[in-house]
Amino acid sequence: MNKKFEKLFEPVEFPSGIETRNRFAMAPMTVYGSNDDDSIGKEDLDYFSVRNDAGGLIITGAATTSKDGHNMANQITAYDDKKIAGLTKLASVIKGKGNLAILQLQNAGREARATQKRKGVAYAPSKIEFPFLKYVPKELTPKQIKGFIKDFGEATRRAIEAGFDGVEIHGANHYLIQQFFSSYSNRRKDKWGGSLENRMNFALEVIDEINTTVENYAEEPFVVGYRISPEEVHGDNIGYTVDDVCKLINEIIKTGIDYIHLSMSKYDAIPSVGGNNEPMATTIYKTVDGRVPVIGAGSILTPEDALRALDYVDIVALGRAVIIDPDFVVKLRDGREDEIETSVKDRFDDLHLPNKLKRLWTKEGSLLPPLKGLND
Ligand SMILES: Cc1cc2nc3c(=O)[nH]c(=O)nc-3n(C[C@H](O)[C@H](O)[C@H](O)COP(=O)(O)O)c2cc1C
Repeated sequence: MNKKFEKLFEPVEFPSGIETRNRFAMAPMTVYGSNDDDSIGKEDLDYFSVRNDAGGLIITGAATTSKDGHNMANQITAYDDKKIAGLTKLASVIKGKGNLAILQLQNAGREARATQKRKGVAYAPSKIEFPFLKYVPKELTPKQIKGFIKDFGEATRRAIEAGFDGVEIHGANHYLIQQFFSSYSNRRKDKWGGSLENRMNFALEVIDEINTTVENYAEEPFVVGYRISPEEVHGDNIGYTVDDVCKLINEIIKTGIDYIHLSMSKYDAIPSVGGNNEPMATTIYKTVDGRVPVIGAGSILTPEDALRALDYVDIVALGRAVIIDPDFVVKLRDGREDEIETSVKDRFDDLHLPNKLKRLWTKEGSLLPPLKGLND
């Protein structure tokens, strides 16, 4: 290994006592490899079998925790016990090279397009018309909220039974947990909405439920991480600022979480509003103050980017970099960084990507982040 990159291969220990062998995580990516009956598909297994050394921590794409919060057809799901057999195969493939397998848990809330298609309804903290949605979501009742929280616990139990090393709570990217924290999306007047403290309640109860499940079912230490978007700004509508997020993160850390994972399009992004005009990752890193490791994602596309990102966070998450080159980390470890591919030109069909993902990436007006070389 080139000495310059050695820091990237140091182990990191989580509060639960589990150690990850290097400072790379594979970012969670929904790749649509599951079967139409929502079970793990051959394409899911194929995608991970070539990427199971893409980081010490391998995080799956979002797995649905509740059938009524189902984002997209063909994503991973964990909403009933019938899914355990497939999840067991998935965990085993991911752990094949000795890295940690983490199942990301998601309820999509208002973005539950698969639920909307099946039932004609999607649920959210508040019934609001959103300019970016073709339908108006239905407001969750307090009983339904409790049910969704329980479902996160049940999905965690399934992850434990399937042999995963941990779960990551998807509190980012505008899905249900973020919708509760956002003052733009959450207009409730009960204990789940209103003040900043009340808007934290859903996230904190989800973590409590998961922690209780881990205590009851896990026979070995089990990682519980939390992914968060550092700010939410929709034009003039501010859901929350990075300063608000720091307050939530303080509460999250008190629950004994293992890591905080920042979801950004660029790892050193500056806040749109609030903050001190310093990168959001820096503001958050100072708040966390070494209590738990911080993971950062966003446009870390080369080994040099990865090294620079370590100025902001403890662990770097690779998304598109390991779509483009599944062996990014292995090549770097072996001193073969010159062989890392940074473009998909003439290689797109050889990357072991599910067909649906390939279609979504190549269709006109694709909403996915660009892949270098795809349209050359
Ligand atoms: C195809 C695709 C699917 C994604 N799915 C998820 C997901 O399921 N959960 C999540 O938290 N982020 C998801 N993301 C966001 C990535 O985890 C990551 O934050 C983003 O791609 C930025 O990192 P990158 O610049 O290294 O690609 C997805 C990104 C891509 C490209």
